[in-house]
Amino acid sequence: MKKLFIIATWKSHKTSPEAIVWLQELASKKWQNIHNKEIIICPPLTLLSLVKSVINEKKLPFKVGAQDISQFEEGPYTGAVNAKQVKEFADYVIIGHSERRTHFGETDEILDVKVQLALKAGLTPIFCVQGKKTPIPAGVSLVAYEPLGAIGNDHPDNPADAEAVAANIKEKHKIPFVLYGGSVAAENITSFTHMADIDGVLVSTHSLDPKSFIKIVDNA
Ligand code: PGA
Repeated sequence: MKKLFIIATWKSHKTSPEAIVWLQELASKKWQNIHNKEIIICPPLTLLSLVKSVINEKKLPFKVGAQDISQFEEGPYTGAVNAKQVKEFADYVIIGHSERRTHFGETDEILDVKVQLALKAGLTPIFCVQGKKTPIPAGVSLVAYEPLGAIGNDHPDNPADAEAVAANIKEKHKIPFVLYGGSVAAENITSFTHMADIDGVLVSTHSLDPKSFIKIVDNA
């Protein structure tokens, strides 16, 4: 059975009470037959500590990821949270998401720096690419292919197309794991995870409701 990454990213959603409700719902389930699944929860930075401590306390079989890190190491950078600080709570960090590129002006150069800082701090980057031509920084081993037209609109990519891109990325960049992201839901997840070169999914909209995220993990 191949290893599958199932990543929930809440984007800019949820407060502490909402996160607690979500975690309680997941904690009420008996997690069985998930030995091949790496389940990673990526809350906003404000909830990293809370999510990490509930996972530890309730012994939930999940890892924690951040959605961003600073492009700088520690120092006088008002408002920035650096990789070393994030590493206190997380094992993974999403870098290169199209929303960071579009709304925050992150360039390939900045993303490269972020990847190197993540690796230096011991974080595994989940590097998002929008197509076959997106540059992938050195040291990346986990890529999420996220076609722009498929994000947040319940119009997922055609699984065969996603598979072709995943295979191309693996071959060209020698990347061991490529995930698919974009309108993944319980109803369509297996059409992606059954593909030979797709090693999991990155889910936002349908991860926000705990019941729907549980169904996604169960079906994967
Ligand atoms: P979505 O987002 O699941 O809401 O389509 C995916 C993503 O942006 O990673």
